[in-house]
Amino acid sequence: MSRLGQAVVREGRALIHVDGIEEAYAGGRLEPAWMPVFYNPAMILNRDVSVAAIQAYIDEYAPHRPVNIVEPLTATGVRSVRYALELRGVGRVIAGDIDPRAVELARVNAEANGVDVEVVGGDARCILYSLRGTPVLVVDIDPFGSPAPFMEAALTAIGRGGMLAVTATDLAVLEGSKQRAALRRYMARLERIPHSKEVAVRALIGYIARVAAGLDKAVEPLLSYYQGHYVRLYLRVERGARRADLMLEKHLGYLYYCPGDGTAWLGEPGCDSPRRLGPLWVGSLWDPRFVELTLREVEARAYLQSRREALRLLGIVRGEAGLGVVVHQRIDSIASSLRVSMPRRRAVLEELSRMGYRAVETHFSPVGVRSDADPGVVAGVVRRLSGGS
Ligand SMILES: C[S@@+](CC[C@H](N)C(=O)[O-])C[C@H]1O[C@@H](n2cnc3c(N)ncnc32)[C@H](O)[C@@H]1O
Repeated sequence: MSRLGQAVVREGRALIHVDGIEEAYAGGRLEPAWMPVFYNPAMILNRDVSVAAIQAYIDEYAPHRPVNIVEPLTATGVRSVRYALELRGVGRVIAGDIDPRAVELARVNAEANGVDVEVVGGDARCILYSLRGTPVLVVDIDPFGSPAPFMEAALTAIGRGGMLAVTATDLAVLEGSKQRAALRRYMARLERIPHSKEVAVRALIGYIARVAAGLDKAVEPLLSYYQGHYVRLYLRVERGARRADLMLEKHLGYLYYCPGDGTAWLGEPGCDSPRRLGPLWVGSLWDPRFVELTLREVEARAYLQSRREALRLLGIVRGEAGLGVVVHQRIDSIASSLRVSMPRRRAVLEELSRMGYRAVETHFSPVGVRSDADPGVVAGVVRRLSGGS
């Protein structure tokens, strides 16, 4: 342990001691998993947005009470230290890790930044279950790979009206490239289709919704996005068997892919013999007001290292959130299924709005559109603009 905290990096308002960062470079690229305690600078955007989203949650849903936050897979403690340093209205911040080296480093970081983060050692699930009786409003699960093993404990720990923040990096599974693992881990039949990034988000929410329902709880997505190598969700958690029943009835279903014209459909297929994926979440992925509040929080925080990137991402997501419950369509998938050349996205968006529909770009794909037009109408526009009849 003598080398603990050998280098210091600045992130947000925190100075974070990290261990073995020099040794973790291979061919100019950082391999965070090689570090004795994991620290990934590629996740700064994830953590910056998280600071903004939790502030939006506190201000909107819990403005009059100190909010206790639990992050039971903390590694260096960077996330929890940042929450304690950068958020208004926070009560206790509890961080945990199963690795004693991480616990020690997180304690060093809490102390070095002068914040009162309670760092505990142990399995994340034990930490979460041991909190029974402590009012917890925010739980942040940020693991290696899949968050599935931690969902029941996290949903149990969250109090009424609280918020669950979740990262998943097992995208080969969630995007349907590993079908058996998808069925095993998320209880959904998935396969790779052009819209797989949105499928990943919907499959993860669908899984969490079913775990919540088993606990007589319901979830409601406030903010969801796909970025780089991960999916990130912010879900409001409510109690009540009736709420859980309604959620399952209304928001759990299937996504259909029509290979004939390359379109995706939610709830009902628009073609004969579609491919069916799910069950997954077929409700909204966003609360437009929450997205707006998160965006404003990022705007107000000039110190955030990923501010420009976060504003761009949230700006696109804000547009998508305003459209209600629709799945995005891929111009490339439609064009290749119809065997026509691919029109420019701008042209497709303009044509859809000229026809009286709302249509925006999507953060899921640079060649994707989200529109309230029927997917068949979007396919028709792609065909027409490509010069087809
Ligand atoms: C991806 S890292 C966490 C990164 C951190 N949240 C951040 O923002 O930098 C995952 C951490 O989870 C810890 N871990 C793995 N399995 C665990 C378990 N069952 N309970 C608690 N911690 C666990 C690992 O030791 C590792 O430090």
